[in-house]
Amino acid sequence: MKIPFNLPYLSGNEQKYISAALGSSSHAGNGFYGQRCIELLKERYGFKSVFLTPSCTAAMEMGALLADLKPSDEVILPSYTFTSTANAIVLRGAKPIFCDIEESTMNIDVSLIESKITEKTKMIVPIDYAGIPCEIEPIMALAKRYDLMVMEDAAQGLHSFYKDKPCGFLPPLAAFSFHESKNISCGEGGALVVNKPEFIQRARFLQEKGTDRDLVLKDQKKKYGWVDVGSSFLLSDILAAMLLSQLENVENIVKKRSLITKAYSLLLTPYQEKGCLKTPKIPPDARINHHAFFVIFDLPENREQFLILLRQKNIFAYVGYSPLHSSTYGFKLGFKPEDVPRTQDLAQRIVRLPFYTGLADQGLDYCLEGMKSVLQTIYGF
Ligand SMILES: Cc1ncc(COP(=O)(O)O)c(C=O)c1O
Repeated sequence: MKIPFNLPYLSGNEQKYISAALGSSSHAGNGFYGQRCIELLKERYGFKSVFLTPSCTAAMEMGALLADLKPSDEVILPSYTFTSTANAIVLRGAKPIFCDIEESTMNIDVSLIESKITEKTKMIVPIDYAGIPCEIEPIMALAKRYDLMVMEDAAQGLHSFYKDKPCGFLPPLAAFSFHESKNISCGEGGALVVNKPEFIQRARFLQEKGTDRDLVLKDQKKKYGWVDVGSSFLLSDILAAMLLSQLENVENIVKKRSLITKAYSLLLTPYQEKGCLKTPKIPPDARINHHAFFVIFDLPENREQFLILLRQKNIFAYVGYSPLHSSTYGFKLGFKPEDVPRTQDLAQRIVRLPFYTGLADQGLDYCLEGMKSVLQTIYGF
């Protein structure tokens, strides 16, 4: 048996909806299925407006344009994130300022953000690692005090809640991913949530290549033209059809995934109690979407051995992100490994376990047995 790190999941209605979309008179963005996804997201999560995009990467780039980032601006973000979080900033010529993370969640350590704020700071970009919500309330309070923009990189955070508020609900901007590795997927896709009313009309122009086509569609103009910068930040209606099927099934998907979290937690508790490793600590007022499960080993060499021995059993775990500050491009930008020491240390000890919706149906027992035997080899019990 082979247990991959990730496997896309079909929730049931994908083929039916895609066929219907193909048979319709429009396949482009913001069509029938796109609108249904947008309405569902707004209704379920209370977002003010939603723009479906080709990826979370594109959503972040659109968000950075809306935030009007300029070359002299600084943006605070964790180094422990995907390249897209930083690229959205660097593409505008602004400077990323990396902030260290908390061990219990791998999310930005809110207590360290204020020390990074300077006169040049324009925005804070936290992420919801492994679907664990970042502490958005204190981040919003800091942003208010210093008059900063916040864009939540909620690539992994759809259907996670912090104090009963969904990820992406509080900040002016939030970006989600519907890449095949996420809980809810259409292969490649994303969404930008715009909660700040003053941004919404401009977002419509940016999404449509900097044109006011939106006003023509609303019968407010006869001919559209170039009114702003922009790009093609649209998701095809064929992919939106797939997305709708998945969004309609989110409760079922999250429930299946919660069984994997439960099983991994149970397996690892004795090793955690003996100090061999640590598992995520979910804040008591958070409800998670069970996107992923990470383990932090006591020593980098035990992490390496775990990965190698698991692979010999055809079970594929993964090391997670390479921290951006100590990446090739991070060094080019002038960062050093010691800039964010906790990130540097944890990145060498973390493992993300195989995690996909179908694992709950098939393979989980094999996976657990394999892990148990590998841990026994490493720790002797
Ligand atoms: C935190 C974070 N941001 C952005 C992205 C990019 O998402 P997408 O592949 O939809 O562009 C990812 C991808 O995993 C991510 O983990």
